[in-house]
Amino acid sequence: MDKLKLPNGILAVPAEYKEQVIPEYSGNPFIEALPPILSAEEAAEKLAFYPPYHPQERRLESHYRIHMVQRLFQIFQPLPVHLDLESRISRILRQGYLARNPLKPQFVQYLKNSDEIINKGIDGTLENNKLFRTTASGFSIVGVSGMGKSTAINQVLRMYPQVILHSRYKETKFSVYQLVWLKLDCPFDGSIKGLCIEFFNKIDALLGTNYYTKFANGRYSVDHMVTAICKIAQNLGLGLLIIDEIQHLNEAKSGGEQRMLNFFVSLVNTIGLPIVLIGTPKALNVLQSQFRQARRGSGQGDMIWERLNKDDIWQLLVDALWRYQWTRKETPLTDEINDVLYEESQGIIDIAVKLYAMAQIRAIVSGKEEITPNLIRQVAKENLQLVQPMLQALKKGNLMEIAKYDDICTANVDFVGFFSKNRQAVEMEMRLKALQKQQQQKEREEMLSVKEQAIIKLLELNIEAKKAQKVVEQVMEEGEKLEVSEVVVRAIQLLSSTGEKTKRRSREHNVKKMNENDIRLIVEEGRKKQMTAYEALKEKNLIKGIDDVIFQARCSA
Ligand SMILES: Nc1ncnc2c1ncn2[C@@H]1O[C@H](COP(=O)(O)OP(=O)(O)OP(=O)(O)O)[C@@H](O)[C@H]1O
Ligand SMILES: [Mg+2]
Repeated sequence: MDKLKLPNGILAVPAEYKEQVIPEYSGNPFIEALPPILSAEEAAEKLAFYPPYHPQERRLESHYRIHMVQRLFQIFQPLPVHLDLESRISRILRQGYLARNPLKPQFVQYLKNSDEIINKGIDGTLENNKLFRTTASGFSIVGVSGMGKSTAINQVLRMYPQVILHSRYKETKFSVYQLVWLKLDCPFDGSIKGLCIEFFNKIDALLGTNYYTKFANGRYSVDHMVTAICKIAQNLGLGLLIIDEIQHLNEAKSGGEQRMLNFFVSLVNTIGLPIVLIGTPKALNVLQSQFRQARRGSGQGDMIWERLNKDDIWQLLVDALWRYQWTRKETPLTDEINDVLYEESQGIIDIAVKLYAMAQIRAIVSGKEEITPNLIRQVAKENLQLVQPMLQALKKGNLMEIAKYDDICTANVDFVGFFSKNRQAVEMEMRLKALQKQQQQKEREEMLSVKEQAIIKLLELNIEAKKAQKVVEQVMEEGEKLEVSEVVVRAIQLLSSTGEKTKRRSREHNVKKMNENDIRLIVEEGRKKQMTAYEALKEKNLIKGIDDVIFQARCSA
């Protein structure tokens, strides 16, 4: 599906109508333009994401490796519950469009009726659209923080183009945008106004409209905003609305929660828009009482995502993670490590991934380069304090019990803070090393005069020692204060301008005539032993080593 960038900046996919196996889906452009219905295997393959990894990366320096550890957070290992989610979304999306076929004459009637109801405002909208038998339904996903609810829904939604551009359906001119899905986060204060504003903002960002300026400018009441949303959703053929963080509804000002739920229910029943609500166990009360009863004939049970049990599913996840290891030493996944990881994370995916990442970083930074059960216990002890009450409640195992601790969110496990602290430690060490190296280099250079350094460089270029010395002296005689590189450049220029070639002459002959302490001789002898000029001079104690300098400095201090 190649996205098309329209002149107004919208990224849309041009509609391609696919033949439908299921007869009732045929002839509905909104459904025919969707990607094909997947089998479980196809869904698993499309959902999975394994970032690249190469075992050779273990050899890299620590500052690279601690960055790479963060790739762990990109992994998506599909689990059975995700295949269930994928197939539910696939069904409710299509079912929702079933009664909203824009090419059927009833569609006009549907728009007219729902408009009338919408216009009555939010508190009147619970009334059903009698002439419109909705095929829409919704469901909710409830699960402890960190079980991957948001990640999973994003991964499923990613398989659908968000905006489809229709221009012609068979022989009929059919020029519309289809907004396949829209995901909103319930605002912190649980207010409908906040949610409406987010709706306008998201649509504006996607379609280049300016609904925010138009409807959220303070001149319109919340009722007006809701009406606008219903109409926009209708006109855009919105297929699915997902509202995450629904537990914030609990914090709504009095009456807010009921109003909000009414609003959702009316979207399902009046305009036939399927809705998925996602939240932590704190949202259970609200969802189970109002939302469930108000929805009619949903046919889809809610999804409760418990923490993972220590079974094959847990193993599937841990095996996927374990391949990604950047410590020098390879640690196999032993039963003991597996037990500790489960015990410390209580089967919460987010915590398991973070613990594994933190243990690797700690192993790398400390130089121990190995993951051990104790290391995992230790990083857990140091970094999981904020989520301990939730983990303890999980051990006792009751979702309602957990609801009490629900303002605890696994995002409180501060991986970013942990990472930056450890990164700083590594960088500090690296900077120190770099400074030491630079200092050594500087001291080494200071010990040799510019003249000596220039001669050595020329010798390394295979220029005969005597000639090198002579030409350098010649350059320096000019009295200008020059850098070593400048002396070398001028010396080479001088050599070539006098027509001299850098051919090696019979050095043996010349060398013999030299004094044994003549640096030219020393360098020549060194060269025979494959030594650099610097090494040869150092061997004869003609250059002080950095250790000598440090040693002397310490003694004199
Ligand atoms: N299937 C998976 N495979 C690998 N990692 C996963 C998977 N599911 C979740 N994770 C990890 O868990 C992290 C947290 O997941 P996510 O934020 O989706 O949880 P959540 O249930 O939405 O939590 P909250 O209720 O706090 O919003 C992800 O960033 C990811 O690192
Ligand atoms: Mg979430």
